[in-house]
Amino acid sequence: MPKMRYQLCFLLCASSSAHGAVLSPWRRDMSHFSIGTSSSSSTRASALAEKRAGWEYGPSIAGNTAFYPAGSIGGPVAKAQGDSFEAFSDKLSAKNDEDAKAAQASIVAAGGLNTLDDYAKLYNGLWKESAPKGPYPGLLTNYTDDLLFSMAQLSDNPYKIVRVSKDAKLPFSVSNADAISGQTLEALRSSGRLFLADYLDQKYQPQSAGKYGAACQAYFYIDPKSQNFLPLAIKPNVEGSDLVYTPRDSTNDWLLAKMMFNLNSFWYAQWYHLGATHAVSEIVYLSAIRTLSEEHPVMAILHRLMKDAWAFRVIGRDNLINPGGPIDQLFPWAGSQAGNYTDSLYHSGESSSFQANYFEANLKKRGLIDSSFGPEIKAFPFYRDASVIHAAIRRFMTTFVESYYKDTSAIVNDTELQAWIHEAIPAQIVDFPSALKDKQTLIDILTHMAHLVSVVHGTLNTNALAASTGVLPFHPLAFYSPLPTAKGVTDIMPFMPQVEAAIGQISLVVDFNRPTFVNSGETISHMFDNTTILARMGKEVEKAEQDFRLAMKNYSAVIRDRRFGEDGLCGDMPYCWTTLDPDTASYWLTI
Ligand SMILES: *[C@@H]1O[C@H](CO)[C@@H](O)[C@H](O)[C@H]1NC(C)=O
Ligand SMILES: *[C@@H]1O[C@H](CO)[C@@H](O)[C@H](O)[C@H]1NC(C)=O
Ligand SMILES: *[C@@H]1O[C@H](CO)[C@@H](O)[C@H](O)[C@H]1NC(C)=O
Ligand SMILES: *[C@@H]1O[C@H](CO)[C@@H](O)[C@H](O)[C@H]1NC(C)=O
Ligand SMILES: *[C@@H]1O[C@H](CO)[C@@H](O)[C@H](O)[C@H]1NC(C)=O
Ligand SMILES: [Fe+2]
Repeated sequence: MPKMRYQLCFLLCASSSAHGAVLSPWRRDMSHFSIGTSSSSSTRASALAEKRAGWEYGPSIAGNTAFYPAGSIGGPVAKAQGDSFEAFSDKLSAKNDEDAKAAQASIVAAGGLNTLDDYAKLYNGLWKESAPKGPYPGLLTNYTDDLLFSMAQLSDNPYKIVRVSKDAKLPFSVSNADAISGQTLEALRSSGRLFLADYLDQKYQPQSAGKYGAACQAYFYIDPKSQNFLPLAIKPNVEGSDLVYTPRDSTNDWLLAKMMFNLNSFWYAQWYHLGATHAVSEIVYLSAIRTLSEEHPVMAILHRLMKDAWAFRVIGRDNLINPGGPIDQLFPWAGSQAGNYTDSLYHSGESSSFQANYFEANLKKRGLIDSSFGPEIKAFPFYRDASVIHAAIRRFMTTFVESYYKDTSAIVNDTELQAWIHEAIPAQIVDFPSALKDKQTLIDILTHMAHLVSVVHGTLNTNALAASTGVLPFHPLAFYSPLPTAKGVTDIMPFMPQVEAAIGQISLVVDFNRPTFVNSGETISHMFDNTTILARMGKEVEKAEQDFRLAMKNYSAVIRDRRFGEDGLCGDMPYCWTTLDPDTASYWLTI
């Protein structure tokens, strides 16, 4: 038993929890981290063997994706993180409930929700603790603007849209494409100007009583005149209907079609994020714990990035997709369907592939950057901001790796590192590098881990929900009347969440928000800013951390300076999308 306590602390202390660290008088050896070689001490080897034996691959939770920790050390460590995060989360929700009560009273006093304009009142000076900054400027005023809708595909959810290739089969036709864009659908396709976001895979999902959702497929295009990225058509695939909506339809019909699409996009983004950021980074981390000594510098970096990581699938299972939980209550599809959708995105490789989802590779694959076909996308806010952060992460990781590995043979000789790569097989990591024979491969792996937990997670989850992707009236989480099978909707209100559901929606999304992190040590700017760890890594890495932090602070100032110009745009968008502000977004998974 004393040995077990020692081990527990050994690991908990190295990845201490922000929400109630497990303290112990045990002190770490403060000497420098060192890479693993065959001549490593036998103490190191036996500590590692003991650690490996105590961290086992247990069944996946919150969907059937990656293994979740089990074993004599892994089990208790994961449980402690989950418990402490559940306590933190309960406290936060209780506090947020005060905001919800105030919002409910305020909207009832204002006469309820009778028109789409009334939804803005839900945000007016409310949610003071939980979402004090409210929705992004422009979102409540400009949401009927087509450019606002389309630019969300290049910012809020850049993970589904693809450029349609020259010979691809078109999933549906748009008879008036020419009148809208100046070119037929086929001409847009053959000039590389046509894009598709396809959520037809959401059609199989059974819907809960009284709530409705579509399974939209949507075309976007680069306008031959303005070069703007705009929506062309939406096909909702409502049961028994093949309607195709376009900007030429009535205001109500087209707006409702865009809202139907937004719900599919939200559903996709959340379950994609669960696999792509949580499950993937966790399994890479777990395989590292089983193969790298606590003295290994890569282990230290991973502990830092994976703060509290074992907590989030627990909260997802117990407080989100659980029977009767928020997903069951607020969406047309049950929490069990969320698990199923998460699994299908994971097992197809879409969310789980490691190398294929490297930052540039992922965007190239979908023709969004460096496309040899069709014009360049003239404004790509996600790529613009994420590139700066990604490049800075890569610079840090390059210095880090070079400071430990003088040449390629040092990488090959690092027995722990090599064991980590081989561990990908029993760990069932999808598309992990199968060999590690150069520094570049290691830099790529570490850069991608940091990218997943900060940039990808922050874009799709955390603060984005309360500021943008979960904001009413444009982003309802469910519809409350059967969706139309004919055009000519005279009033959108019967489809919209009424007071209770609207307050429920905002209450859910603000639980993901972290306003107290703004300008704090939890943000991307401070990703590597831990003096205890840095002191054990040497001057070069310390300097690289400073450079990283300054570059991020610098870019935060650039993002925060964005304002609406005379063209009505803020950083190329009809709303001020600032999700990747490095002094606001978290460097770790957070929730
Ligand atoms: C810095 O890292 C050490 C070792 O992982 C950890 O114990 C400590 O809590 C961290 N400090 C902060 C401020 O995050
Ligand atoms: C899960 O989704 C698949 C399609 O990917 C479907 O065939 C299956 O019936 C679904 N399972 C449940 C339990 O809904
Ligand atoms: C790696 O191992 C080989 C063979 O044992 C040895 O010749 C070489 O010097 C080692 N390289 C480093 C950097 O330790
Ligand atoms: C910060 O930004 C300014 C201009 O905005 C630039 O001149 C400077 O080099 C940047 N510093 C860093 C560390 O990136
Ligand atoms: C968007 O909203 C902002 C502020 O509400 C306004 O200044 C801007 O002109 C709007 N832009 C468009 C394109 O409507
Ligand atoms: Fe998350």
